[in-house]
Amino acid sequence: RTRVLTGITTTGTPHLGNFAGAIRPAIQASKDPNVDAFYFMADYHALIKADDAARVAASRMMITGTWLAGGLDPNTATIYRQSDIPEVPELMWLLTCVTAKGLLNRAHAYKAAVDRNVEQQEDPDAGVTAGLYMYPVLMAADILAFNANKVPVGRDQIQHIEMARDIAQRFNHVYGGEYFVLPEVQIEEQVATLPGLDGRKMSKSYDNTIPLFEGGPKALREQIMKIVTDSRAPGEPKDTNDSALFTIFQAFASPAESAAFADALHGGLGWGEAKQVLFERIEAEVAPMRERYDALMARPDDMEDILLAGAAKARAIAVPLLETLREAVGLRSFR
Ligand code: TYM
Repeated sequence: RTRVLTGITTTGTPHLGNFAGAIRPAIQASKDPNVDAFYFMADYHALIKADDAARVAASRMMITGTWLAGGLDPNTATIYRQSDIPEVPELMWLLTCVTAKGLLNRAHAYKAAVDRNVEQQEDPDAGVTAGLYMYPVLMAADILAFNANKVPVGRDQIQHIEMARDIAQRFNHVYGGEYFVLPEVQIEEQVATLPGLDGRKMSKSYDNTIPLFEGGPKALREQIMKIVTDSRAPGEPKDTNDSALFTIFQAFASPAESAAFADALHGGLGWGEAKQVLFERIEAEVAPMRERYDALMARPDDMEDILLAGAAKARAIAVPLLETLREAVGLRSFR
């Protein structure tokens, strides 16, 4: 059997990038009878980015609702909150002690923060927490605590999975055993990087996101109308290369629908009309999910029950693994 695992950081409202890049392919993967799926709210990771408790609290509920509304079956898949699994931070420490500091110096998120500081002639580590620095080790612990084989993510997470492999290999080497399997990254090429309103990667940190459910069809349409396009007028043929609008369309349509849309754009369809077509295509997929989402969000107690059951299932795997690992590193009983 294949263990597939992925997480979403609970810092905001789920957007189309999270959905197309991670949530939708992960739910699809969970339907394979040979797959054991482990999907979680990365709420410890959220503390690195946000010190806004209310936002983190709301986000972990919204992301739980999104997984379930998207069709994840909690009876077959294991859905849980990272912070309900104490073995994860425990494993993080064991991994921290075999992780080269130099490896973490090369992590994109940390390096980007340092580069920004240097550019602004500040102290390189200004505003950088040890949490941000340790981010890849916490993520390695998420994956390795369950010995996941496959990790479906968007392109921006590839480096983190590679680091998890490095760290796993290092631990196996230091303690002389096959304690960890090496996780493999799984990328949905088509949507590995969904562009946002401005054409850059759709990301909370660029403030260019299109929300999946939040604000209903009205907000969805309003945001879609803000997608940046070139200045070609209706009637002029449009370029579908490097078009954020067309790329987003492709993520929500069949190849045949995309080909027809490309033909229309090449034939001079106006951008305004094209945006309406895009809105209708996405809304057709999102509307039934939004209905389930709203119903779930009105019943937080039910979601709590599902998550606690998920955490119990997850810990049934992590607890015995941690026992083995504690033994391996010399943290043994005296008896
Ligand atoms: P996060 O919360 O930033 O994003 C969640 C998932 O969504 C994908 N994604 C995108 N995919 C395509 N296009 C986009 N514009 C886009 N924006 C986001 C991300 O690649 C990711 O798959 N560190 C992780 C969460 C995490 C995790 C893990 C993932 C914590 N532990 C263990 C896998 C395994 C993160 O911050 O993702």
